[in-house]
Amino acid sequence: MTPDKNPQKIKDMFDEISPYYDSVNNFMSLGTHYIIKFLAIRKLNIKPRSNILDLCCGSGDFVNIIKKYYPRVKVMGLDFSREMIKLAKSKNPDGTFIPGDCTDLPFKEKEFDYITMGFGLRNIENRSKAIDEIYRVLETGGKFLHLDFGYHNKLNTLFNLFTSILIKILKKNSRHYEYLLKSKDDFPEPNELIKEFEQHGLKCIKIYNYMFGTISAQILMKI
Ligand SMILES: C[S@@+](CC[C@H](N)C(=O)[O-])C[C@H]1O[C@@H](n2cnc3c(N)ncnc32)[C@H](O)[C@@H]1O
Repeated sequence: MTPDKNPQKIKDMFDEISPYYDSVNNFMSLGTHYIIKFLAIRKLNIKPRSNILDLCCGSGDFVNIIKKYYPRVKVMGLDFSREMIKLAKSKNPDGTFIPGDCTDLPFKEKEFDYITMGFGLRNIENRSKAIDEIYRVLETGGKFLHLDFGYHNKLNTLFNLFTSILIKILKKNSRHYEYLLKSKDDFPEPNELIKEFEQHGLKCIKIYNYMFGTISAQILMKI
């Protein structure tokens, strides 16, 4: 069944799960999500003094990793869940986190040298509009890092089983994790997704697989 990605519902869902978002992420990924984010970001070879935008920033992992390892860059996170923005701010009061919608970015053309987005696009109803916006605000020759669940392989089936058990334990907010399962399996596999990006003018220059391909990072360039 196709998951309901009505933007207001998605926003409400992330507002509601924000208090335990980080703990559940740590638990479900057995702590690996942070390492994978770090490894994928390193593949961008970020240049000093770059201007970077992290879309769907959530609790701020991408912004915090970038600022820690590339202190000479300017980086900002954007998310439409105000509770997630509050959480990101509470974890990093010096970080720049702003409310906004990926399908209508409050920036002018070619403002960013790099754009990152982790585990976000999967939740966006109008994916095409979001990719158009990424293209618009990215500098020509700029790079876009997209990280999310990848191939629907056997390990993915095992992850689904693990999540189903978690759903039973979490009872109260289980519908959010039922949504996670649906959105993950409904999301195109990397090769299909790359075709979509390329239709919008972003050329795939590298693909990196993590956890046997259950997580995939694609680096795309605006040509
Ligand atoms: C699964 S979380 C990922 C957070 C973070 N990038 C990470 O990897 O931990 C997805 C985030 O995307 C945000 N989001 C979903 N649709 C959005 C949209 N259209 N515009 C802005 N943020 C959006 C949600 O509020 C949520 O914080």
